[in-house]
Amino acid sequence: MDKLVIQGGIPLRGEINISGAKNAALPILAATLLTDEPMLIGNIPHLHDITTTMELLGLMGSELMIDERINIEVNNRNITRLYAPYELVKTMRASILVLGPLLSRYGKADVSLPGGCSIGQRPVNIHLEGLAAMGARINVEGGYIRASAKRLKGTRISLDTATVTGTENLMMAATLADGVTIIENAAREPEITDLANCLKSMGAKIEGAGASRIEIEGVEDLKGAQYSVLPDRIETGTYLVAATMTGGEIKLKNTKSCLLASVLQKLTEAGAEIAFDDNTISLKMQCGRPKALNIETAPFPGFPTDMQAQFTAMNCIAEGNSAITENIFENRFMHVQELQSMGANVRLADNKVVVNGVDKLKGGLVTAKDLRASASLILAGLIADGETLIKDVYHIDRGYETIEEKLMQLGAKIKRLP
Ligand code: EPU
Repeated sequence: MDKLVIQGGIPLRGEINISGAKNAALPILAATLLTDEPMLIGNIPHLHDITTTMELLGLMGSELMIDERINIEVNNRNITRLYAPYELVKTMRASILVLGPLLSRYGKADVSLPGGCSIGQRPVNIHLEGLAAMGARINVEGGYIRASAKRLKGTRISLDTATVTGTENLMMAATLADGVTIIENAAREPEITDLANCLKSMGAKIEGAGASRIEIEGVEDLKGAQYSVLPDRIETGTYLVAATMTGGEIKLKNTKSCLLASVLQKLTEAGAEIAFDDNTISLKMQCGRPKALNIETAPFPGFPTDMQAQFTAMNCIAEGNSAITENIFENRFMHVQELQSMGANVRLADNKVVVNGVDKLKGGLVTAKDLRASASLILAGLIADGETLIKDVYHIDRGYETIEEKLMQLGAKIKRLP
């Protein structure tokens, strides 16, 4: 498996492009199953999770064409298998996103249960309860969700927890249901609005996406469309933290500040100067070490759990003591032990990561154990004394497009070893 080697201590400077959002591209690719007309999806990031989704669609009978600018044309006129196998679902939980579209358009779906993962139990009961409320028959047997319905019926669904992929699954299912579906306590993440905008461009009738009450009026069929995925707010935030930690000055292009207001506010508190216009964000860090930050993760528009590990890495070298409370996933702390091994004074207290900031981290051998934990180790490596070797970087390839090339473009000394 590949490794990354980082020589720390270089302030990041320069400009890079931000890629399309992984967590918007995945549901949008699943949404293509709702039409038999061609779909052209642009600004797709080149990531391992996208390849897995393409493999999954291909297995069902999708015809996929990808060009050098990573636009994907998807044609679903010959879907023959309504099935997501364990072998693919185990490598990517977001495979569950095909459940709603398959059931709604074809009346049947067999999808492997995703099971727990390295950041928590992550059940899918809310997806299943919502689909059952719309009239689906659902059996869970032999590790598979076996769902069927003649035609789903619109209804009122109130989610116990504002789940992101759960909201997406139910919204997609509702687009072809008979009548009106109302989703209450819906998640409000920008990726949900992006999916809704894509579905609307296909002819779906959706109101309220981005708010906690979404209303969907089912239609008979959806059409092909062209759609471009929104920028990745977590990739954006990760590079901004990297520049803040290293005392750098960077400009990120093809991104939008409104997607990450809570993150920008925290970076400003840490001491960074931030400026933005319609499509760029610039950050300059001049005041030495960042200030330690107390943070609580929360659903959007709160501080994203997907940035918790990266801000933990920053707190490790910040001036002062801090605590970050993780409120979304019960076990999203794979980075903590690795950061300790680099000299960080960090410990866990229930769902809090408590840090006493130190002057310096030291390079060493660490292991990437999940996607955002890997990002935090790269950030730690960028500021550490000496060389950091990160093992098992395949996790990072699931969510960050060409991360070492982008960091090199910003002046970092980083290379990939096979
Ligand atoms: N939950 C349930 N039952 C359900 C669904 C969720 O109890 O049926 C709980 C979860 O266990 C968790 C909470 O609800 O405690 C929120 O989880 P959610 O369902 O919102 O997470 P998700 O949809 O599985 C998406 C992103 C994650 C991101 C979370 C939270 C995608 C493909 N994944 O996951 O992204 O952390 O929302 O914002 O959109 C990442 O990119 O690194 C990543 C993990």
